[in-house]
Amino acid sequence: MQPAVINIFEKAAKKAGKILTRDFGEVENLQIQSKSIGDFVTNADVKVEKNLLDTLKYYYPDYSYITEESGNIKGDENTIIIDPIDGTSNFIHGIPHVSIVIAKMNNNEITDGIIYNPILNEFFWASKGKGAWCNNRRLRVSNRKILSDCLIGTGLPFGNRIYKNYLREIDEILKVSAGIRRLGSAGLDLAYVAAGKIDGFWEKDINLWDISSGVLLVTEAGGKISLPSGKIWTINDRNILASNNFIHDDMVKKLSLL
Ligand code: IPD
Ligand code: CA
Ligand code: CA
Repeated sequence: MQPAVINIFEKAAKKAGKILTRDFGEVENLQIQSKSIGDFVTNADVKVEKNLLDTLKYYYPDYSYITEESGNIKGDENTIIIDPIDGTSNFIHGIPHVSIVIAKMNNNEITDGIIYNPILNEFFWASKGKGAWCNNRRLRVSNRKILSDCLIGTGLPFGNRIYKNYLREIDEILKVSAGIRRLGSAGLDLAYVAAGKIDGFWEKDINLWDISSGVLLVTEAGGKISLPSGKIWTINDRNILASNNFIHDDMVKKLSLL
């Protein structure tokens, strides 16, 4: 059974999802601003976030909030983290791979999270100790044990986020895996690892709001999260590696470049 907090996140996401869906594909009516090269915000991102905050603050007026578009709100030790549209570039281009991400964090630990794609009506959620789910179906990471059978997701860096060695990382993974996918929503990438659709995922220089719910989905679905170096991931880290567990060490070896 969904915990109360997930019910509230679902209510908020499905309400705001209607705004997202209405604006999807209406590119000529979108107001698009660039924060930096390749990093966009539209009036839909702002509207969706405002709508999410209106609902969530009604139920949780005393909580702290970390949001992508309107910054941080200081409250009590419970924190809600929001990415109103994860996959804004996809959204602008009419590609239906976008999501609303809402997570709850307590004592620096993600305890509950949802990732909702309103275009495909896929509602992913996870709560600590209660498993990972999509539309009432329990999720489990894939069972593929060797990298050469595995599809790996990643997020390519862009603009001022390009870092040394990213092409070498891609080269190393391409040589040994069944292929790489750059789908454009880190939240959904992690949900797809949890669902066993892709077998692993890594990205560097990423924000907590992109991956907050996803890390919980992956661990609750039996997968593993770490830094690409293999060290322990914490909420303050900007780099992430997720996998079905079986291929984790091999991915670490491939991504630990000097
Ligand atoms: C982006 C997406 C993308 C990832 C970027 C994120 P946004 O989020 O998750 O897949 O590669 O690092 O910034 O800007 O669409 O919310
Ligand atoms: Ca994002
Ligand atoms: Ca976003």
